[in-house]
Amino acid sequence: MNLCMIGTGYVGLVSGVCFSDLGNQVVCVDKDKDKINLLNKGRVPIYEPGLDEMLKRNFKFGRISFSTDINKAIESSDIIFICVGTPTSKKNNSADLTHVYRVANDIKKNIKKFKIIVTKSTVPVTTGDKIEKIIAKKVNKKKFEIVSNPEFLREGEAIRDFIYPDRIVIGTQNKKVNRVLKNLYEPLVNKGAKYLNTSRRAAELIKYASNAFLATKITYINEISNLCEKIGVNVEDISIGMGLDKRIGTRFLRAGPAYGGSCFPKDTKAIAIIADQYKSNLSIIKSTIKSNENRRNLFKKRTFQIMKNKIKNKTITFLGVTFKANTDDMRESMCLKMIPVFLKKGAKLRYYDPSGKKKEINKKVKFCKNIQEACLKTDLIIIHTEWNEFKSLDFKNLVKKNNFKIYDMRNIYSSAKMKQKKINYFSVGR
Ligand SMILES: NC(=O)c1ccc[n+]([C@@H]2O[C@H](COP(=O)([O-])OP(=O)(O)OC[C@H]3O[C@@H](n4cnc5c(N)ncnc54)[C@H](O)[C@@H]3O)[C@@H](O)[C@H]2O)c1
Repeated sequence: MNLCMIGTGYVGLVSGVCFSDLGNQVVCVDKDKDKINLLNKGRVPIYEPGLDEMLKRNFKFGRISFSTDINKAIESSDIIFICVGTPTSKKNNSADLTHVYRVANDIKKNIKKFKIIVTKSTVPVTTGDKIEKIIAKKVNKKKFEIVSNPEFLREGEAIRDFIYPDRIVIGTQNKKVNRVLKNLYEPLVNKGAKYLNTSRRAAELIKYASNAFLATKITYINEISNLCEKIGVNVEDISIGMGLDKRIGTRFLRAGPAYGGSCFPKDTKAIAIIADQYKSNLSIIKSTIKSNENRRNLFKKRTFQIMKNKIKNKTITFLGVTFKANTDDMRESMCLKMIPVFLKKGAKLRYYDPSGKKKEINKKVKFCKNIQEACLKTDLIIIHTEWNEFKSLDFKNLVKKNNFKIYDMRNIYSSAKMKQKKINYFSVGR
């Protein structure tokens, strides 16, 4: 099939590459010329394990191409996937749909034969209806169909998640279009993915309701970890004890920093706003948002306590700065809220991240090329993300000085072993 992915970011690029790997002809479009130039040189603009190799293979066989020419890409494709960003609006907490509607306007100018237009971007309920209205101003409704196909992949695991998804949700009531999409996804369904056909609005809501639920699950165990700290119980025992109940499950039940990333913060806010518009109060999700904001402050306060409020001229090292491991994505990463506060208090900051230097981080914070450089003679190591390379470190050998401290925000290390080694070690909920 001839597919077009509009928006070549984490979702558009990964889905495009994976669809091409399944034998489809794919063109990935983006308005960002630098990104497209890089991709045309066979280079991947994001950090996503396994993507580089898969892209090169399909690029070599001519199954995937990259372009800034949206008109030509739309014209030559049977199915058009909208994969542009839907960030939080600067005016309120709703989803900013500027990019989505711009693409809808581009599409409407280029429909000559029947097109299936699929929204993969996370969009509020009724966005599909609005896209349909925009396109129908210029094109007969018989010549296109708008479908919602929310994407559930996780950065860092994106290829695996795309190829082996738990479910594929297709929101359309058009039987013929549903058959075409079922056919497109058949290789994944054959590997065990559940195919769910719903109304368009239901598909749109499934995505938000799922993300808000997962964010709530994380926030729930984070609050339980606060209680654990007060009563001297290990939150890891609670996570395992709860997670063994199949109704609960172990995933997204590990205490840590405030959740971040490009999805949970914006999607929880957006669904709460959507519900308000329909005069339905999503009080649980609103509490989740508030609790997550409080957690950022709690971790700042906790760091001050660990340092006994003596931050000035102290060296603080961040190991990992992205919002989670195996990605280069800095969106809503908790360290971005901590760094300005520490700088203001006169701390000397450094960081090392396996995905490289970050433009989002204040230039006053020194980027170190490796763990050794980052940890040498530091006063405090903050283990901020859970990259594998942070999991078996010999800290005494790395720091080469006495009385340094470790704040392990991911509970990677055993408190007992750290105590044996006489290292000042602090973690979460234990
Ligand atoms: N990142 C994730 O893990 C993830 C997972 C599931 C769903 N989603 C959803 O998918 C959508 C995309 O997310 P992302 O993380 O891939 O975003 P992203 O910011 O990485 O990529 C979006 C891309 O769209 C391009 N773009 C914007 N307007 C355009 C236009 N008019 N024409 C062509 N290109 C345009 C941008 O230049 C950018 O490269 C969002 O709605 C997000 O909520 C993201």
